[in-house]
Amino acid sequence: MATVLITGANRGLGLEFCRQYAEAGWRVLACCRNPEHAADLRGLASRQGAVSLHRLEVDHFDQIDALSQELAGQSIDVLLNNAGIYGGSKQNRFGSLDYQLWTKVFRVNVQAPLKMAEAFLPHVERSSRKLIVAITSLMGSVSDNTSGGSILYRSSKAALNAAMKSLSIDLRGRGVGVLLLHPGWVRTDMGGSSAPTLPAESIAGMRRVIEAYGPQHSGRFLNFKGEELPW
Ligand SMILES: NC(=O)c1ccc[n+]([C@@H]2O[C@H](COP(=O)([O-])OP(=O)(O)OC[C@H]3O[C@@H](n4cnc5c(N)ncnc54)[C@H](OP(=O)(O)O)[C@@H]3O)[C@@H](O)[C@H]2O)c1
Repeated sequence: MATVLITGANRGLGLEFCRQYAEAGWRVLACCRNPEHAADLRGLASRQGAVSLHRLEVDHFDQIDALSQELAGQSIDVLLNNAGIYGGSKQNRFGSLDYQLWTKVFRVNVQAPLKMAEAFLPHVERSSRKLIVAITSLMGSVSDNTSGGSILYRSSKAALNAAMKSLSIDLRGRGVGVLLLHPGWVRTDMGGSSAPTLPAESIAGMRRVIEAYGPQHSGRFLNFKGEELPW
């Protein structure tokens, strides 16, 4: 049975990833900050025996190390770094930038996925698929940026892209792949109610991209339709 570990699994894209992977017969390690308040996820776990809940606040690196140890000896086919924050609209705007929050956005969106990769590399190496996925954003593309703004968020996703690109090269010799996936503009708490894409469609698309993954794809920046995006 293939195994996926998902961060930010209690709502939005993370929850839909859990639903679809569980439905497809995968073992799902669903990580979230507050399992006791994650009603939808708990409901899913009670219906699908292969879903287990794990407490994980990704910017608390001691929790990442503890979970890695708790799962020592297990294999993880796909390490899915999904948890992310935007940082608030006013705080993202030039003239009212929130520098303390910017540090937090970097910790959650950039450093945590790299810390996850370091902590769970043994689990991924032990698996048959050997894939690390980071949910990034087209807003992290420097060449696609024509509308400005969103300075905290854009800079964090651009940094995530740069760091994961390096990781894809660093891990090549160990047979571990890295994918950067943009989910589209999706109707979640972060995407808002005007977003044109529903979570079910976005996740089905990203699962297809993950399914089609081969070592030649490592280090690519793709959208949920599998299309190459500009850096
Ligand atoms: N929706 C879009 O249009 C869109 C577009 C491009 C990229 N993305 C990316 O897709 C990913 C998922 O976004 P979404 O739309 O599902 O967002 P969302 O609805 O706001 O959900 C964010 C998830 O991340 C979790 N999270 C935030 N900070 C965390 C932390 N410190 N530790 C652990 N979990 C944390 C949240 O948990 P809590 O419930 O505990 O806060 C929640 O589960 C993000 O990386 C986002 O940047 C989204």
